[in-house]
Amino acid sequence: MSDAKLIEVMHGVNLDQLGRRDVTQYGALTLPELEARISEMGDELGLRTSFFQTNHEGEFVEHLHGLEGRADGVVLNPGAWTHYSYAIRDALEFAGVPAVELHISDVDAREDFRRRSVIRELCIGRVAGRGAAGYGEALALLREELGR
Ligand code: DQA
Repeated sequence: MSDAKLIEVMHGVNLDQLGRRDVTQYGALTLPELEARISEMGDELGLRTSFFQTNHEGEFVEHLHGLEGRADGVVLNPGAWTHYSYAIRDALEFAGVPAVELHISDVDAREDFRRRSVIRELCIGRVAGRGAAGYGEALALLREELGR
């Protein structure tokens, strides 16, 4: 397993509050429970996973700055920042690792503002509305991209 690719899974603003948020949109899992599931899905795909969450946009940006050379790919769910943060978009542009955009809820079937993503065109793929299972799909997309 030591040569297994490492995928960083980044959660943005308010995602530390999963379990308290609208369960019809986001499910009942807390973030630690969700991360345990993602880790299992990674194991099944032969991928290592590591995790990061912050409610601070600058910390999210700085974490993207440090990814190259440390991780082979990134799954990012920036939460509401997805819809307007050009700072995160700019950082992702030179992050140097392939990225998949992930949303637990079906953002295209909700309010208009959630349909807009400023990171979409920088990502090799996008998974939305698939709940926790979506993270497994995102990991599989990255595995394919990384040639495993
Ligand atoms: C989200 C969707 C966003 O619109 C929202 O602001 C979130 C979570 C999702 O995972 O479905 O915080 O990214």
